[in-house]
Amino acid sequence: MAGRIPEDIVAKIYDENDIIDYVSQYVTLKKTGRDYMGLCPFHHEKTPSFHVSREKQLFHCFGCGASGNLVQFVMRSENLDFMDAMHMLADRAGIVIPENGAVESDAQHEKKKRILAMNKDAARFFHGCLKDEKTGAKAREYFQKRGISAKTITAYGLGYAPEGRDALIKHLLSKGYTAAETVEAGLGVSRDGQIRDKFRGRVMFPIIDVRGNVIGFGGRVMHNEKEINGYTIPKYLNSPETPVFDKGKNLFSLNLAKNSSEQDIILCEGYMDVISVYQAGIKNIVATLGTAITENQARLMLRYASEILICYDMDEAGTKAALRAIDVISDAGGRSRVIRLKNAKDPDEYIIKNGVEKFREAVRNAVPSTEFKISLVKNRYDTTTADGKVLFIDETVNIFMGIKDAVEVDAYITKVAEDVGISRDAILAKYREKSSRNKFRSRIPQKSEYQKRAERETRRTVREENTSSKLMEAEKRLLGLISRSRKLYKAASEKMSPEDFSTDVYRRVAKRVYQCFENGETPEPAMILNDFEGGDLDTASGVFYNLEVYDGDEETVKELLYTIRLERLDLKIKKETNPAELSKLFGERETLLAEKNTWEE
Ligand code: UTP
Ligand code: MN
Repeated sequence: MAGRIPEDIVAKIYDENDIIDYVSQYVTLKKTGRDYMGLCPFHHEKTPSFHVSREKQLFHCFGCGASGNLVQFVMRSENLDFMDAMHMLADRAGIVIPENGAVESDAQHEKKKRILAMNKDAARFFHGCLKDEKTGAKAREYFQKRGISAKTITAYGLGYAPEGRDALIKHLLSKGYTAAETVEAGLGVSRDGQIRDKFRGRVMFPIIDVRGNVIGFGGRVMHNEKEINGYTIPKYLNSPETPVFDKGKNLFSLNLAKNSSEQDIILCEGYMDVISVYQAGIKNIVATLGTAITENQARLMLRYASEILICYDMDEAGTKAALRAIDVISDAGGRSRVIRLKNAKDPDEYIIKNGVEKFREAVRNAVPSTEFKISLVKNRYDTTTADGKVLFIDETVNIFMGIKDAVEVDAYITKVAEDVGISRDAILAKYREKSSRNKFRSRIPQKSEYQKRAERETRRTVREENTSSKLMEAEKRLLGLISRSRKLYKAASEKMSPEDFSTDVYRRVAKRVYQCFENGETPEPAMILNDFEGGDLDTASGVFYNLEVYDGDEETVKELLYTIRLERLDLKIKKETNPAELSKLFGERETLLAEKNTWEE
């Protein structure tokens, strides 16, 4: 994982960002003993169990088990992937991560470059076909009928994929690409041993990322038939996922929208919606790529906008999708409002029917997401009746429970109270009752999720790796101790090599710890943890974030080594069925116990 950014840059990023400084932005930390402590930002708690160590540059919550180094904290709290988190921390410290080469293997980088070049050639080819007097006549007519101007065709690089089997493939082969490459780029499909064009007889919409690369295509048939001769015809066909195209991570027209001076971005569902609105002079508009919005896409938009204006189709599916989009955007840390268009099924149709000024008005009147949610609930009940009011308030209070801002909740309670003629106090009481019930549930002091997960993980490892929880506990403590002291490392490494540890995670941790000492360095837990993810990360982090590692000396190491040897012998004895072997093992056990007795005297 870390290997994709040059090691020295990674080290620099860690050196120049301090975990205590960073975490303090989110959590009020108090120094207690060696650690700083506060309320865990990753789960709800009333007494602090969240520890951060400056010395180790690690965090660990003893309540929910969240743990890791600074980058892992950033990944969790900002919802970023590893690369984005590293970039963020680099930016924060003014460190430049080299853009080329180091980030991925050369072969992978070369492949992507070739696909991007092929996509660009394909886009030029489609655009040429659209402009061609004869080939493009029908397609030009189609765009004209839909009100798309020649200028817009150029701005979006729209095109036409001709009928026939392999017009594009032939062109690409003549440019030196192989048939296999065209398939990998999603432009060719293999059928009966032949490579054919994926897009045929369709108007083409190139999808361009913020860096200006053509990463994929959408293609629309030039009619509205759903079925021809018994075959269903998809209205739009999109490029498949390829090494350069991820539908969940890109947005149509963001390359143009990002240059708009507006503070917000309008999000709609279709290519044609975007193009139509853009043509009318509103440029801060984008669309998803035929799939539901993802958190990645939300974050991508929020890089360029302070608020997202959701402008989905006015049917039931569009409304559902809008509700989902609100939550996804909120999860990504952003705000959204909803644009409502009356008497039109989508933005394209609306702007054609009513003109751009009406559309601008609708944008100005976009309703806050909470209001939108409440209005949908209200439509379902007759709030002139007592029963209707009860049900309406009940669901509305559920919406309030998801709002983080207390002021916002308060404002909406007032609004709803006035709206349906129920006292503010009654609604507030209901809200308080529901929230306390919720909190109470999460406060019942059962085992924490972390404890349960850790126990499950131990049971699994014990089962799969022929070990015991006692053995794992001893190895964990030993690893933690020696990672803090060269002296203790020396004492232990004479008796135990990294391969001797009983689980994969411990072997990997041990290897890194031993390596560091052998290279004359001190192991840095934060760097070592970079090699781990998921459940493994929790296990590995447990090695360093184990409060017992603070007290222990050579005597403890000896003690632990003994326990480890004894446990291993006992595991062998449990499995052995051959009597001769068994008696040998028992002999070994006797010797071991005797050995211990001598050094205890
Ligand atoms: P719509 O069916 O709402 O189409 O799909 P539209 O954008 O209004 O297109 P026109 O006006 O009929 O030309 C919205 C989006 O869903 C994806 C496309 O991205 C489309 O723009 N979609 C739709 C597909 O991927 N495949 C389909 O078959 C249909
Ligand atoms: Mn449409």
